[in-house]
Amino acid sequence: MNYKQLSNKDKKYLWHPFTQQQEWERDRDITVITRGKGTYLYDAKGKKYLDGVSSLWCNVHGHQVPEINKAIQKQLKKIAHSTMLGASNEPAILLAEKLVKMAPKGLTRVFYSDSGSEANEIAMKMAFQYWQQTSPPRKSKNLFLTVREGYHGDTVGSVSLGGIDLFHRIFGPLLFKTLKVKSPHQYPSRNVSNENWLKDCVKEAEGVFRKFGSRLAAVHMEPLIEGAGGMLVHPWGYLKAIRKLCDKYNVLLILDEVATGFGRTGTMFACEQEGVRPDILCLAKNLTGGYLPLAATLTTEKVYKAFLGKFESGRTFFHGHTFTGNQLGCAAALANLELMEKKIYLEDVQKKSEMLQDLLEPLIAHPHVSEIRLRGMMGGIELIKDKKKKTTFPYEAKMGYRVCAEAKKLGVLLRPLGNVIVLMPPLGISKGDLVKLIGVISKSIHKATGVRF
Ligand SMILES: Cc1ncc(COP(=O)(O)O)c(C=O)c1O
Repeated sequence: MNYKQLSNKDKKYLWHPFTQQQEWERDRDITVITRGKGTYLYDAKGKKYLDGVSSLWCNVHGHQVPEINKAIQKQLKKIAHSTMLGASNEPAILLAEKLVKMAPKGLTRVFYSDSGSEANEIAMKMAFQYWQQTSPPRKSKNLFLTVREGYHGDTVGSVSLGGIDLFHRIFGPLLFKTLKVKSPHQYPSRNVSNENWLKDCVKEAEGVFRKFGSRLAAVHMEPLIEGAGGMLVHPWGYLKAIRKLCDKYNVLLILDEVATGFGRTGTMFACEQEGVRPDILCLAKNLTGGYLPLAATLTTEKVYKAFLGKFESGRTFFHGHTFTGNQLGCAAALANLELMEKKIYLEDVQKKSEMLQDLLEPLIAHPHVSEIRLRGMMGGIELIKDKKKKTTFPYEAKMGYRVCAEAKKLGVLLRPLGNVIVLMPPLGISKGDLVKLIGVISKSIHKATGVRF
């Protein structure tokens, strides 16, 4: 089918996520992807684009990776899917074993689902039920402490845990209440030493623990950097301090590594950088190398055991989805993780992360760039209207979108978060393409803001 036909049918039948459809319907140049190869995407007009946001933060080694293709094809010859309710399957078993071996020590049980939102939803329900059934039960431990600008997905539970006003405000009446601390990124002393910045942030969290510690079921947060909130970085030591508070007040720590997991921040899991082990870990996105929807919630033997009992005890975790533990997804994940296990994988990510830092450095002098934030290969460039007066571009100026529209003309697909240009290239990107990516982003900022620097 040609581009025109596809574009017309898209506008007639589809509803896109996080998209103002009125604008989409009027757009005469919507992108319709027909294939991918390496870190490039090809559209129905035959145009080639660098996949600048890793197909929404999940592509790892590129598209058409021979090892992952082969693994899926091999699995397809056996079976595509059978249920995990009352049965098991080989790829799901082998993947669980591999995940337990890769994850921080002590996380010994794997519960599968299909998306990051579900992985978080499951973590939250698991923590809640744990306290109802632990010995002796602590039924009043039913509150969750979260970070105000956090993002954990779009199901009602994960929206309750999140705090991005633009996305979540409208659903307010549907949500359950959580306790919230300000994002560690938002503190005024952020521009002084890490030590003072950290002190400020921990003080607020300590206050909540002091007041509500005995009622807290869990802290639920993204480690090191909040992604969808705007690539908001935390001071070093924050995660460790939260872990200590959780230990002191007997609170579970749930880490959402849906975006940061599998090397994105330079270590296999971001929490390793602070020597922290969560009680529950949420994984998705990179898990299958960006091939298929699969997520996992990992937990400890201590949490798992609280769910054991006789059939009639009611201690069962009554949660599951039709495609939980899907064989094709698990086979893709196994092949993906085998590639990640090669020594060179993390070394390569770390080298490219340093390179990214160097490439971005000159851009901070641009009059419309207020901040560049990076943890490994994950970060953002914050655009500002007036640096001196600290005035931001208004929402309706769509500055982030305008920069991305310029980048598209130059052959790079990006997706902004408000005034933040997201930096999330596929981890397998070549050094040459990394140079190209930053070059195009710089040019696009010049073009959209009208200020060449
Ligand atoms: C940290 C984090 N958690 C959860 C999610 C939700 O994942 P999904 O879109 O797979 O539901 C995302 C998605 O961007 C995320 O970045």
